[in-house]
Amino acid sequence: MSDLVVFGGEPVRKEAYPEWPVHDQRDITAATRVIESGNWGGYPYPGPETAAFLEEFLAMQGGDYAIACANGTVTMEVALRAAGIGWGDEVIVPAYTFQATAAAPMAAGAIPVIVDVDPNSYCIDPKAAEVAITEKTKAIIPVHLGAQMADMDAIMEIAEKHDLVVIEDCAHAHGAKWRGQGAGTIGDFGSFSLQSSKILTAGEGGVLICKTAEMAQKAAGIINCGRSHAPGGGQEEGEDFVMGANYRMAEMQAALGRVALERFPDQVKERAEMIAYMDEALSEVPGVRLLPRDPRQTTRSFYRYIFAIDPEVYGFNHDVVCYALDQEGIPCWVGYEAMHHYDLFQPQLSKLPVPVTFPERFDFDNMDLPVAKQACQEEAVWFDEAIFRAGQQGVDDAVATMLKIYENREALAQKVEELGTSQL
Ligand SMILES: Cc1ncc(COP(=O)(O)O)c(C=O)c1O
Repeated sequence: MSDLVVFGGEPVRKEAYPEWPVHDQRDITAATRVIESGNWGGYPYPGPETAAFLEEFLAMQGGDYAIACANGTVTMEVALRAAGIGWGDEVIVPAYTFQATAAAPMAAGAIPVIVDVDPNSYCIDPKAAEVAITEKTKAIIPVHLGAQMADMDAIMEIAEKHDLVVIEDCAHAHGAKWRGQGAGTIGDFGSFSLQSSKILTAGEGGVLICKTAEMAQKAAGIINCGRSHAPGGGQEEGEDFVMGANYRMAEMQAALGRVALERFPDQVKERAEMIAYMDEALSEVPGVRLLPRDPRQTTRSFYRYIFAIDPEVYGFNHDVVCYALDQEGIPCWVGYEAMHHYDLFQPQLSKLPVPVTFPERFDFDNMDLPVAKQACQEEAVWFDEAIFRAGQQGVDDAVATMLKIYENREALAQKVEELGTSQL
């Protein structure tokens, strides 16, 4: 048994994992093309790069209509506004997600109703979602988290039964498919982030796939400062404004996104091969629980590889595991915070209209969210995507490190007891 770095040993991985995002001459050519065109921004909407990017994005992901936005948060707000959802309406969101999924309804004036996730996928638990439906519920936002997709069969059945709008948060799911159908094309809307850590990135940006031309037209107006006749860009005579803002994507981002799309299919293939290899190898590590792969998810494109450790077996929680992994050269994260840790959702701290008016909807301590709380506070480990772009050796090193932590667990637990996690 070799010593952990924490005890003065050698790290498992000495070579850095590959950087993200990647770039080559094609990005420089694309950026130069935009600079020389003089058309750098997003007005008039959509510019030529943006229009081409959207067409190419739809060819990759599926779907018929898409809007290019500033990021993958406003996409969800815009979808809600386009669907006529606003003040006092309720929108069901999972408890284990980035704050944006719950903040977007608040930005549209709606109440995010937070429900627990499924322990097998860490995505929204359809049963918990159905129980939370009231006469005010208008929408549901399933998040396809890490490498998993939410159970879209169950979600669509519930949505149909209760007449709800479905907005798929696909910030982690570019290229992923459910029964052969692209993530984001199953519900009424699919929201994608192109922020720099995402697997399809333009530095910043977002794409909103819309099921109907009518919704796409409305969404285009909302992101274009409320010009109700958008797309088209300029103000026409007698044109009315709707409530909107400048949420457009810039031409520069669209041009970089087009190059990212050229590379994307090979990257998806490489990650899919490596995830299968990781599943097999990691399942041998004691005290590790893999999230089972749902066969209905037919293409496994992914942002982060999430698994759970058993704190009883290790004698410490995921904070210590991730600290030790990091010391050994393995990029990882403990994942999202519990919702109640975000000041954003605290009425007295955020002073935002929705939490101030409906404080009982933000009383997280009294909400029944055992799976999300366990994931946030104890067990979830998120492996960085770079591990899956470093060949089999990249995966082997990550698995060997997990085994090393397991073998050293007693000494590590002792150290944690002496010093506390924060002093390691
Ligand atoms: C699940 C999820 N939803 C939404 C977003 C928001 O995307 P953006 O940063 O582009 O606003 C992110 C990430 O940043 C995310 O991880």
